[in-house]
Amino acid sequence: MPGHVPVLLREVLAHLQLRSGDDVIDGTLGGGGHTRALLDATAPDGRVLAIEADPRTFRQTIATFPSAGSRLIAVQGNFRLLEEYATKHHCRPVAGVLLDLGLATLALHDPGRGFSFQSLGPLDMRLDPTSQTVRAATIVNSWSADQLTELFRVLGGEPAARRLAEAIVTRRTRQPFATTVDLVETVAAVKPRPGRLHPATKVFQALRLAVNDELGALRDVLPQALHVLRSGGRLVVITFQSLEDRLVKQWARQATAAGQARRVTKHVIRPSRAEVLANPRARSAKLRVIAKT
Ligand SMILES: C[S@@+](CC[C@H](N)C(=O)[O-])C[C@H]1O[C@@H](n2cnc3c(N)ncnc32)[C@H](O)[C@@H]1O
Repeated sequence: MPGHVPVLLREVLAHLQLRSGDDVIDGTLGGGGHTRALLDATAPDGRVLAIEADPRTFRQTIATFPSAGSRLIAVQGNFRLLEEYATKHHCRPVAGVLLDLGLATLALHDPGRGFSFQSLGPLDMRLDPTSQTVRAATIVNSWSADQLTELFRVLGGEPAARRLAEAIVTRRTRQPFATTVDLVETVAAVKPRPGRLHPATKVFQALRLAVNDELGALRDVLPQALHVLRSGGRLVVITFQSLEDRLVKQWARQATAAGQARRVTKHVIRPSRAEVLANPRARSAKLRVIAKT
């Protein structure tokens, strides 16, 4: 995908410690930046199993790998089925698993997907519109004020959750929400003063996480990643927001306490200032790495 710069690439490669001939799983193909580097690191005969939930991103990215041949096993699907895919494609045990969470740049900026509060689009936000039926509009038009309050509070960390939920319920009795702008206008009426963040940031984050059950998928994939790793194999996870990072941190602590894994680095790894200057998307990235015992 043009324009997608892989985040923390040097650190990912340093911690995966791949050798020629290793098999590895990239659970989040996205624009293929990391996958390309994993193919290089495992050449000439190591394989990369790359998974991508979003069918459009998948198609566009795969088209940019014309010469990867049988070394790239590409699967369009959700990484919450990682172990099933690894078994099906005889790609286990593997030397490493990478998860670089979040959205692909192209999907984020495609107004037709409804992820961005900065452009007019349908209130959709599904990663895979071919298999998911619940859109962001389904949630804002049908959940109760209590459910919406809980959603904005827990998944958005939104202090004005209750007032926003009530404004949404009032507004939809006049006309159901259909577009991103409908929602942004309602949020702006409740939170008119722009702070550092756009007033709709947290509401959009909460809806996206709920529509795609992103935390549920992450909770499901972490133990599976450990299962498919060979002994000593590395799991590298890059998160972009605190709920995901906390989930990874707590799970890693439990896996370590249970003797299934060991922490490779004491502290979370952050991008350098130079990387953030060159790629502002890296700003909030946090990398954690654990090794299977
Ligand atoms: C930040 S991008 C990955 C970028 C990639 N590492 C690169 O270098 O281009 C995250 C990707 O993971 C995909 N994704 C998010 N959740 C997923 C899930 N549960 N299963 C599979 N893919 C998922 C998104 O659609 C997006 O394309």
